[in-house]
Amino acid sequence: MKNRNFVPDCFHYENGELFAERVPVASVAEETPFYCYSKATILGNYRIYDSAAKEAGLKHTICYAIKTNHNPKIVSMLTGLGSGADIVSGGELYLAKKCGIKPEKTVFSGVGKTAREIDEAITSGILQINIESASEADLISSRAKALNKKVSVAIRLNPDVDAETHEKITTGKKENKFGISFSEALALYRKIHQSGSVNCFGIDLHIGSQILNCAPFAKAFERAASFMADLKNIGIDISNIDVGGGIGIPYSDLDNADADALITEYMRTVKKIFGGEGKRIIFEPGRFLIGNAGILVTKIIHVKKTENKNFIIVDAGMNDLIRPALYDARHAILPVKKTNGTTDGASYSVVGPICESSDVFADDYAASAPRAGDLLAIMTAGAYGSSMSSNYNMRPLAAEIMTDGDRAETIRRRQTYEDILRGC
Ligand code: LLP
Repeated sequence: MKNRNFVPDCFHYENGELFAERVPVASVAEETPFYCYSKATILGNYRIYDSAAKEAGLKHTICYAIKTNHNPKIVSMLTGLGSGADIVSGGELYLAKKCGIKPEKTVFSGVGKTAREIDEAITSGILQINIESASEADLISSRAKALNKKVSVAIRLNPDVDAETHEKITTGKKENKFGISFSEALALYRKIHQSGSVNCFGIDLHIGSQILNCAPFAKAFERAASFMADLKNIGIDISNIDVGGGIGIPYSDLDNADADALITEYMRTVKKIFGGEGKRIIFEPGRFLIGNAGILVTKIIHVKKTENKNFIIVDAGMNDLIRPALYDARHAILPVKKTNGTTDGASYSVVGPICESSDVFADDYAASAPRAGDLLAIMTAGAYGSSMSSNYNMRPLAAEIMTDGDRAETIRRRQTYEDILRGC
């Protein structure tokens, strides 16, 4: 089956009306725009990921990348399934702990961790801090000494591999700010090992996001495995291999990806390259778990036809979902109620209300007789949607609703204007 992730079963039509699980999407919130998530889909995605790792025979820990969607209800659901966390800030550490994620299942990534954030991670006793520079290694070691605590670290390697994804979400090429080159890392492992101030038994990689084929992963993993052999030659044995996240998902029929085949091949590749000696594999998935489980529901405000172009102007903007503006991402759009009206043959640009020309969700949406007041669903918006939203143009953050069978629960209410000004 192609494109399993694209429009998962939970989002389906009954008598021409879009449902999320057993709830009509139009009924879940009064005010638009809003995010609507399907609990069953998130649970299903986690199980697919976890089972694929188990079937490949891996000894593994899943550390959900909290940046993907930091709604506490979603994070707590994943905690319940046994997930750990990949965090990139003190705020994400705070949230992970609040949502019950065990520190011994928490890894800390990112190039700019402050002394304060490092202290919080050390005192929490997390699984590992992923070091991104020599200077950060010094800072971590001095903070551990000052706190009189032992901390576990891994070094994030930059394998100089092209992830074949959008350049703004590519992280494993030598010109990117992330990770440390193999030659520099060898010297750093030796230094850390000799100093004995921190425990270092990990390597870490994350080459990018929305990667739809396995070849870049395989290339990066092979380079890392050969580096591990070099480390072994100087007496350093690695037990934790953090392979990062990055598995892509289809966003529309244009994405020619077979998601089931990709996850199976990915896990086999990890096993083949790293799994032989029973090392612990740490995964940091984000998009794969949440992406297709969420939609952004928006209302048409105006239909505007000009001599050159037709526009559908909706009430969601790039402040709600920035992916199209930032990465030229194109999410499929579906009507919440299919109309019986004949298609007028026109194609529309679907645009938001924000005062920027990049506030565009679709360039060629073929709608049948769109009217003000109709609802549209912007699909596959669960990952990097609400978590990247902002108050730009003084617009309140959208509500978030979770459906579970025939129930819909508000898991974040829509902001008020007063909420936006709190603290000012
Ligand atoms: N681990 C690390 C260290 C990361 O930086 C990321 C994502 C992940 C794991 C999770 O990657 P995933 O499995 O979701 O691909 N805002 C962009 C994506 C940025 C990804 C940042 N890092 C987008 O909307 O496409």
